[in-house]
Formats: sequence, structure tokens, C-alpha cells
Amino acid sequence: MPFYHKLGSIPPKRHIQFRKPDGSLYYEQLFGTIGFDGMYTNSYHEQRPTQVKAIKKQYSVSPKIAFQNNIKSYRFKGFLVEPQKDYLESRKTVLVNSDCSIVLAAPTASTQDYFYKNTDADELIFIHKGSGKLRTMFGNINFKYGDYLLIPRGVIYKIDFDSSDNRLFIVESRRPIYTPKRYRNWFGQLLEHAPFCERDIRRPQELETYNKSGEFLIKVKKRDDIIEMLYASHPFDVIGYDGYNYPYAFSIHNFEPITGRIHQPPPVHQTFETDAFVVCSFVPRLYDYHPLSIPAPYNHSNIDSDEVLYYVDGDFMSRNDVEAGHISLHPAGIPHGPHPGATERSIGKTKTEELAVMVDTFKPLMITEEAMKIADETYYTSWLE
Ligand SMILES: [Fe+2]
Repeated sequence: MPFYHKLGSIPPKRHIQFRKPDGSLYYEQLFGTIGFDGMYTNSYHEQRPTQVKAIKKQYSVSPKIAFQNNIKSYRFKGFLVEPQKDYLESRKTVLVNSDCSIVLAAPTASTQDYFYKNTDADELIFIHKGSGKLRTMFGNINFKYGDYLLIPRGVIYKIDFDSSDNRLFIVESRRPIYTPKRYRNWFGQLLEHAPFCERDIRRPQELETYNKSGEFLIKVKKRDDIIEMLYASHPFDVIGYDGYNYPYAFSIHNFEPITGRIHQPPPVHQTFETDAFVVCSFVPRLYDYHPLSIPAPYNHSNIDSDEVLYYVDGDFMSRNDVEAGHISLHPAGIPHGPHPGATERSIGKTKTEELAVMVDTFKPLMITEEAMKIADETYYTSWLE
């Protein structure tokens, strides 16, 4: 996140002696991105963060692809994904390309006897159902319904859930996820016209520091493999850190919609960007106020991007028969638009209560076997009268 954050104790300068009460040194770690050119954090550990004791197992969790080169519109019924106790096993990749994976998960329990780290993808976790605490090496963040949790690659974490009823929509991104550049000034500060500002960004506030030795299992995801690494020190042993690279939360309910006299294009809903896809938030808002306005969107061809819409709550004005937890996939190359009757139905409406998350990818998405288990294969004909 491009603003400075500091938590815990740090020395007055980088890379100098920083001593514990007993006179020994804390162990500094530079946690950087984009070579040494991107956002970074300097953290101070009770023990060396490098003490690998054993590599227990390595296994593939590569999603099985059902369709490549897809040009069919699909609807997937996300709430049909089976709840599972284990956090990692509960994660089902439904759509994937070389830049990102779109994952649904219904974990029924907190992460138990292991820590988790994704080494080469940022994780954006949208909380559709559930609440709890994200616990990381950089401190903790409480979360609830409507939160996006952005966990940069390399951050070691656990998730504690308050109950067993949880539904997550996750984007794993091999490209770094940022707030849109056009929302920020030269200095990185969010501009006046941005639909959210720094006050809406919740940074880690509670640092758990354990100076413990023993055996600590970190399940590390690298590409499509999980590697079970046993460390000799507790991964949450940071006494303090500062910098720009840390996990944070942003609630979709704090996204201030931008509206107009006539229909506004999807970019006004943009919340996050990468160089390979965008994430947009559709939130309750007033409709267009031109006297002849048509609130429903026009038919549109996303010639060069696949459009994934995850329906969260409220009424979905442009679609018939779409429910919370559904995903629509409108692939690049063909037009899509309102269902029959939806355009006419929208005229005269003054507001919407819809809540949805959209992911538009520039490269086409492949459909996995997990997605086909929850697919409505007749959706592509749903625009017929
Ligand atoms: Fe669309």
C-alpha cells in the first residue's frame, strides 16, 4: 500500500545495530518487491527468519482445466461449493489464466496447526460471509462481511474465523495489486476524486510477537505447488517494522460510488488495478438522472477482456435469475448485455441496492473442473426472448 506505516519498535535508522534488552541483536529483514525498486518494509525479528529445519512434502494443487479458449458465457453457482474444514483445502480455483486465479472457498474452521504463505501471488480475499481476524507477521486485522483483505505475496498468515459459516471470493494475482494510479497524485496520496481515501484503508494494528523455538509448519505456495516447510522459530516474531509493504483491509461498504446524468462506464467502479486485470466494486447508488436515462447498461462487447462478476447482495438489475454467490463469466470476443425486459424495467428506477465484485482480465480465463461442478451450462442462451 503506498503510504508509510510503522508498528512496534524499530531503531532510528535502517541497517544499524538494534539490540534486545539482553544486549544481543534483533535480526533485520528487508521485505521488498520488484527487485529492490518497489514497495518495501524493514522488519526486526527475535530470531533469524531463515531457520529452515526440514522440507516435509511438496505436492501439486494445480487446478484441472476443463476448457481453454472458451467463448461461452457461463453462470456458476458459488454457494454450491462444498464447505470444508481446512482453509487451504477449501479453496477451489474456478477460473484461471497465467496472471491470476479466481477462487471460491467456504472454510468452516480457522487455520489450525500451520501458517500459510503465497510466495508469488498477492491474495485479494473478499469476505462474502463470515468475520474474524487475519493474523500476519506484520500484525492483525479484524474483518467482517464486505471487507477486501489484500495480502501481499510473501506475507505469512493465518485466518481465525468467528463461526463455521464463511464464504470467500479470492483472487490470487501473479501481478502486484495496487490502488489505481489515476486515483493517486505524484506523491502516492489518494486524490479528491478517488472513490475512497486513506481513512478507509485499515492497516495492521496489533502485533503478536512470539520469541519461541521449536517446530513451526509453514505451508508455502509456489506457483501451483504447496511446499510444507518446517521452521525452527515462530514466524510471528517481529518486534517492529516500518515501510510500505504490508497487508490491509478495505470495506466495499466504504466505496463511494461515482454517478452521472447518463450511464457511467465500468472504470468508475474500479477499486484495484494490476497490469493484467482490474477489480471493480458495484455498490448501492443513485441511478443516472438525465430525464431520458436508461439505468440498465447497454449491450457491450468486451473485445479484449473476460468479465467476471461475483454477485454479493441486493437486486441485480440487468440480470434475470441471478442470486448472491453466483458468478457470471462473459468472455472476450462476444457482446453481452441486459437480459430480456431488464432495460425496460430499469427505466424510471432511481436507485439500486446491488453489491457485486467484478474482475476483468486482459488474458482469457480457462474454466476448471471445479467450476464445471457448479456451472449452469444453459446460461449462454439466456438472452433469447
Ligand atoms: Fe459487462
